[in-house]
Amino acid sequence: MTNFFSRFSGRNSCLGVDIGTASIKLVELGSAGGKVELKNYGSLEVKGHLDRINDAIQTSSLEAMDKDTAELLKTLIESVKPGTRDTIASLPVFSAFTSLVELPDMQNSETAQAMEYQAKSLVPMPIEKVHLDWFRVGRGQDASGVKQQRVFLTAVPKRQVDKYKSIFSEAGLNLRALELETVASARVLTGGDGALTLIVDIGARSTAISIAQNGLLLHSAQADFAGSSLTQAISRGLGINIQRAEELKKQKGLLGKGGEYEVSTLMLPYLDVILSEAKRVKESYENAHSIKVGRAVLAGGGANLLGLEERASDALAIPAVKAEPFEGAVACPKMFSPVVKELGAPFAVALGLGIRDLNKQ
Ligand SMILES: Nc1ncnc2c1ncn2[C@@H]1O[C@H](COP(=O)(O)OP(=O)(O)OP(=O)(O)O)[C@@H](O)[C@H]1O
Ligand SMILES: [Mg+2]
Repeated sequence: MTNFFSRFSGRNSCLGVDIGTASIKLVELGSAGGKVELKNYGSLEVKGHLDRINDAIQTSSLEAMDKDTAELLKTLIESVKPGTRDTIASLPVFSAFTSLVELPDMQNSETAQAMEYQAKSLVPMPIEKVHLDWFRVGRGQDASGVKQQRVFLTAVPKRQVDKYKSIFSEAGLNLRALELETVASARVLTGGDGALTLIVDIGARSTAISIAQNGLLLHSAQADFAGSSLTQAISRGLGINIQRAEELKKQKGLLGKGGEYEVSTLMLPYLDVILSEAKRVKESYENAHSIKVGRAVLAGGGANLLGLEERASDALAIPAVKAEPFEGAVACPKMFSPVVKELGAPFAVALGLGIRDLNKQ
């Protein structure tokens, strides 16, 4: 069993880099006296991503921006000027195969062997072409009292990992680890919290839906509707260009009145598809594990949509709140307080990556 990269310790600062389809986000985190603090952050929009919303063929935008990514990263580093080059970066949900496996409790070395064996039947790719990673998410007993463990398995094509390695080395960054975006958001949004949580990360091109608890990812899925679907609906409905529709969406959200009411009416059918997909994921997890999900946390840029919390609470039938990583896992210095409310949700993944090895010390 190979881990993507080994964990590194003894460092007191690290970069978390979230490569999304609409933007690249970077945070620099530092740790001192057991506390992790935001030192700096930055994000760059992927050029032309709004123009590509209307693409007939939804190419994986990751492919489209591949050659530009290293350049964007260099620009971001020049403007943020971080004090370290050590980086942990995100992999999109669609790039990996994941599964929650139940098996008898045993030592780590034996679990590693068992997971490799399990992976051969679970992963829909030749095992020699993927990087396997696993972590234990819980221990318990089966009906006959035999000790069991639940292990989360991730398999990522080696080709994908190699591509990222070369992009980051081209950008002059020291790539310490690659991690699934949902693993990172689970860590930062549910760390130290025993409540079973549904995380809905509404990005530009896709929505990552996951179930997490105590900082650990238990299940992750993806919906193809996201923020750009809402922008597109406004653009089509009002006959305005994508840029203007994007502005209107951010300005009015679901809270418009009178003439503005139309903006929310246009978005709601698409938003409801996202939320009903999230509800389906929640209910299928609840049914499979005979357990109830207690709350929802909304992340990604799309979580900044005005009025979303209320709509989501109704649709999901559980309290839904916007992600606030700066209220828990990461301290935010006063100089950033004017933007802290808007920063938490879109930067959740980057923050979760950044704290991965810092809070192990
Ligand atoms: N204030 C706001 N109100 C509504 N939507 C917003 C707001 N701010 C950002 N968004 C939307 O959030 C989306 C971008 O989110 P995010 O930055 O999380 O995407 P990404 O991570 O690049 O994309 P993906 O996760 O799909 O690869 C865009 O669709 C943008 O319009
Ligand atoms: Mg994203």
